[in-house]
Amino acid sequence: MSDFERPAFRASSVRARVKPFLAMDVLNAAVARENAGAPVIHLEIGEPAAPPPRLVREAAIKALGGTRISYTQALGRPSLRERIARYYRDRHALTVAAERVVVTTGSSGGFVLAFLALFDVGARVLIANPGYPAYRNIMQALGVEAVGAATSAATGHIVTAGMIEAAHRVQSLDGVLLMSPANPTGVMTPAPELAAICRTCDRLGIAFISDEIYHGLTYGAPEASALATTERAVVINSFSKYYCMTGWRVGWMVVPESLVRPIERLQQNLSISVPTLSQIAAEAAFDCVDELEAVKAGYAANRAVLMDELPRIGFGRIQPMDGAFYAYVDVGEFTNDSVAFCGKMLAEAGVATTPGLDFDPDNGRRALRISYAGSADDIRGAVAALKGWLRA
Ligand SMILES: Cc1ncc(COP(=O)(O)O)c(C=O)c1O
Repeated sequence: MSDFERPAFRASSVRARVKPFLAMDVLNAAVARENAGAPVIHLEIGEPAAPPPRLVREAAIKALGGTRISYTQALGRPSLRERIARYYRDRHALTVAAERVVVTTGSSGGFVLAFLALFDVGARVLIANPGYPAYRNIMQALGVEAVGAATSAATGHIVTAGMIEAAHRVQSLDGVLLMSPANPTGVMTPAPELAAICRTCDRLGIAFISDEIYHGLTYGAPEASALATTERAVVINSFSKYYCMTGWRVGWMVVPESLVRPIERLQQNLSISVPTLSQIAAEAAFDCVDELEAVKAGYAANRAVLMDELPRIGFGRIQPMDGAFYAYVDVGEFTNDSVAFCGKMLAEAGVATTPGLDFDPDNGRRALRISYAGSADDIRGAVAALKGWLRA
């Protein structure tokens, strides 16, 4: 076939040119090292080492033995939506109508639905830097502009209501997406500030999306939900983190009544429904608090080891770890290329961590994230390996 006859090869769309998730790239490098026979301590992925609770596994096994695994309603199984609504009553003393609960394919599926339901192409949505990388990348793929609000150690890595109002005055915002406790910093927005953010967004007519995926994982003051202040917020949550169900791909949203039908239509068309087996299993997760609190106690112990040991081995500049299971470390005195630094750490010390550049395109070259969701042995082993490596 001559070049003339050959149909033009269509490479990817411009919208598909999103950045890779560097944490997953680090995982690939770490697995390659393991395949070559060298040990690796994995601190790069934000994933509980614990299996899902026993009742979750039993519910799935029982369902596989009998029930037909058919599609569910696009908004989710009614019993799961009811159970999620009850969670708000039990945990937050809030009345949430089950009709406002949407079951999603992890919180990741919730972001796509929320962005599509709330924003048109060209909309401007404020997010925190550093922050969860997929926010920016999903928005880019959907033609939504992510407006990064720089936070710093000096201000506790928190986006405030005042910052939102100031940014909106410079150029108007359509939305704000924040998380608390936060990835990668572990910082929690104090409840009064979260309430002020909700009120400010409502007053200015800005959609507020509250990513509450790390709820349940706090080590001091308990977390607050945006739903305590406003029914207009879109709240996103997941069974991935506290409930140890990452691979089950099931999460949820609570949305204002006006968004229920638009989101139902989107979900019907985008995925028909969320995996049924995961929905059945997830319903049991709420009854496993003792088991899950024991897992959380392990994170708390890991966190205590890191807070003691990191400064001793030379990683002194860490953010307060209020919640989640991450330590965000300023490594500016060692490098201004966190990707190369993490690569060297993996190659020489066998410890996999995530470069800050994943979370912050501006200042992330001088930071890295350590996940302490793994075992106590991993954390102690990593501290020992890093101590030797940093002294070498
Ligand atoms: C802040 C935050 N939001 C959302 C997610 C996505 O989680 P999932 O899609 O498993 O619910 C993550 C995963 O690490 C996260 O850190």
